[in-house]
Amino acid sequence: MDSSLLPSQSRVSLNHHLYAHAKVPDGLRHLILDIARATKYIHSAIRTTEAGLAGTINQFGEEQLQLDVLSNEMFERHLEESRLVATFVSEEQENVVELNLKAPYSVVFDPLDGSSLVDANFAIGSIVGIYSGNQVIGRKPREQVTALYVLYGPRTILVYGAGNGVHEFILNDVGEFILLRENLGVGDDAKNYSPGNLRAVTDTPFYRKAMNHWLDAKLTLRYSGCMVADIHHILSKGQGIFTNIGGSKYPEGKLRLAFECGPFAYLVTQAGGAASDGAISIMDRPIETVDQRTPLIIGSKNEVEKVAGILKNA
Ligand code: F6P
Ligand code: MN
Repeated sequence: MDSSLLPSQSRVSLNHHLYAHAKVPDGLRHLILDIARATKYIHSAIRTTEAGLAGTINQFGEEQLQLDVLSNEMFERHLEESRLVATFVSEEQENVVELNLKAPYSVVFDPLDGSSLVDANFAIGSIVGIYSGNQVIGRKPREQVTALYVLYGPRTILVYGAGNGVHEFILNDVGEFILLRENLGVGDDAKNYSPGNLRAVTDTPFYRKAMNHWLDAKLTLRYSGCMVADIHHILSKGQGIFTNIGGSKYPEGKLRLAFECGPFAYLVTQAGGAASDGAISIMDRPIETVDQRTPLIIGSKNEVEKVAGILKNA
């Protein structure tokens, strides 16, 4: 029998944790639970879609939506049904989408980050940030009231922060997120490094310098190509550095401020780490456009400072 079904004092559901520990207002708690429900459908779709055929016709002759399109639809449907969302910004949509301007929250999300890795059966994830009010443009990641991500790996986990630590939950057999670890922390020094967009070393001398520094300092490489998995590695192991730096192809790096860098900056900062664009904290970068990109240096404080220092002196 699934042990989570047995009465146990130690079984803490996401719902319970949201009101008893984080003490988030009821509306926000319901919104987070609705988003968590959307990710359960995505979890199921990832496991049942014939990966190579996504976007075409399956073995039963049915048309299959591409997983990232389907994941976007799952988010959209659950946000709408919550009746709590004024506007949202998605990686899959060009413009801010208005639902009900009188509703209390606005949501930014990347429904399926790393979706191109699904054929290789690598871990992929969803990223979410929640703001109060009906505006996202002009806001700073520091203003988020909650950020969370879901990592669909060998197990599906959800990590959230709402101003009171960063906490990890596992999706059990009956479809409930159950507390796994509370108060994840990021120490000041990194032993692991995760260098994204590494092809930029050819035209960004500073990035080559940072890379050489990691090689000389004998840090251990941990890079999967999905930022949700790679940054979760930092939160899980309690240390590390993740970067995505610009080159000639993406001068500002590849990652988007609103729904990729912003939520992770909020979570990693809350866990004791730091997130920088090389000059200032990502937490203080105003979101000017939906698809705005930014360089990202995130993880253990001392290492973030060191890499930002190499960038400044380049
Ligand atoms: O959506 C962007 C993404 O898939 C991230 O998850 C990942 O960190 C990045 O792209 C990988 O970029 P690159 O292949 O350039 O290192
Ligand atoms: Mn993405």
